[in-house]
Amino acid sequence: MENKRGQWTSSFGFILASIGSAIGMGNLWGFPYKMGANGGFPFLIIYMIMVIACGVVVMGVEMTIGRHTGKSPILALSQLSKKFKIIGIFGVMCSFLITGFYSVLIGYSIRYAFGFAKQIFGVQGFEGLGGADFFGAYTSDVLSVFIFTVICYVVCWIIVSGGISNGIEKFSKVCTPALFVILIAIIIYNLTLPGAKQGLAFMFSASGMEIAGTKFNFFNAVRTAGGQMLFSLSLGMGCMITYGSYLGKEENISTSAWLIPAIDTLAALLAGLAIFPAVFAMGQAPNAGPGLLFITMHNTFTSMGYVGNFVGFLFYLLVIFAGVTSAISLIEVSTASMVDGATAKGKNPNRRKITFFVCLGMLIISTLVCFDQLGKYTGWLPFAESSRSFLDLLDFIAEGVLMPLGSVMMCILVGWVLKKDWLSNEITLNGNKFYTKNFFTFFVKYVTPVLMTFVLISLVLSFFGL
Ligand code: TRP
Repeated sequence: MENKRGQWTSSFGFILASIGSAIGMGNLWGFPYKMGANGGFPFLIIYMIMVIACGVVVMGVEMTIGRHTGKSPILALSQLSKKFKIIGIFGVMCSFLITGFYSVLIGYSIRYAFGFAKQIFGVQGFEGLGGADFFGAYTSDVLSVFIFTVICYVVCWIIVSGGISNGIEKFSKVCTPALFVILIAIIIYNLTLPGAKQGLAFMFSASGMEIAGTKFNFFNAVRTAGGQMLFSLSLGMGCMITYGSYLGKEENISTSAWLIPAIDTLAALLAGLAIFPAVFAMGQAPNAGPGLLFITMHNTFTSMGYVGNFVGFLFYLLVIFAGVTSAISLIEVSTASMVDGATAKGKNPNRRKITFFVCLGMLIISTLVCFDQLGKYTGWLPFAESSRSFLDLLDFIAEGVLMPLGSVMMCILVGWVLKKDWLSNEITLNGNKFYTKNFFTFFVKYVTPVLMTFVLISLVLSFFGL
């Protein structure tokens, strides 16, 4: 309130914004197909263990660092220990790398929502092409892809310029609940379709692996779940430090650190229910991997006939809502860092201008992603065959290297470098209860950093096809 940086107006607003940040493409796209291809139910169990053993812990650590210092990642970490400043810098880099491809994907979704909206009025929305053909034609139309990406940035710029309570919180308070309403509406419709049950079997039973043509591999499942968990919960790069820095001292961090991951996991499961039953009911193949969200779903909605235009429009609207509430959190990491940096130098920063230049910088990376057309110029990269586009490279540097590294280092900072009771002292300020104190103190020291180091190493190896 008296704080010039801004503050959440309520804990409800903070929770909705954090859930909005967490729920995004990762839930709607990554989780369902990774779960299907990695053994279904066993993968879900491994994922949940990763969420509890690492996600909840790093979430609590990040929010506590943010609230304690009241600063964005670079300044926050260097205030706690000079040596950890680099982790904050990596976080800002991550926000550029991830937004660089994330916004392009939101741009795709805007294009698809627009296409189905046109078809509701009887106008061809996809040039009469089927899923794969349209996707190929669209992604090689660099100018269109670029324009829809710019639309995404303009929307995010307007929201982030508004600041915390007037921009991000206000937007999230509408969009996050709306997202659940759309999700549930689509699920209810899907479950009425004949053949929907097979979709549930794909997600939850071993038949998923048979259909996807994959074998269950424990280590593979652990590293896939680990990377997915970090991305889905927006961890390891200071996003939750940033959101935490706008928290009042009366807020209960430990409750939030449990609640947000729980709701995010629920949303990932719901996303699967919004996708696979329809995919099977419409006779589409569920194992398209990354092609699922655009090619398979496009075909699925087309097969539904006229009503598919409504369902398709709603579905991509859902992806846009989920995507934008996540993208603004990514952009906020860099914006807050520059706002705080300028303030520390005694300047009076102009948030609107700073957000503009942050978005512009990110747009340069996005432009390269648009040009690459999902691997047209980067096929020579020395990586595993499935990961040779510029987009995959950005995703790998962030999700495969910087985010697990950031998580490990933040656990080391809180578990080993700072005083023994640093975490619980901050969490219990104002008399807040900290029921899981023993769990946090033990895991942050001995379990989470070890598991995350394993995930880091094995993700790097898998990227090179090892
Ligand atoms: N969690 C979001 C998703 O699942 C993406 C996201 C938002 C993110 N903020 C982040 C990922 C920070 C990593 C870091 O789509």
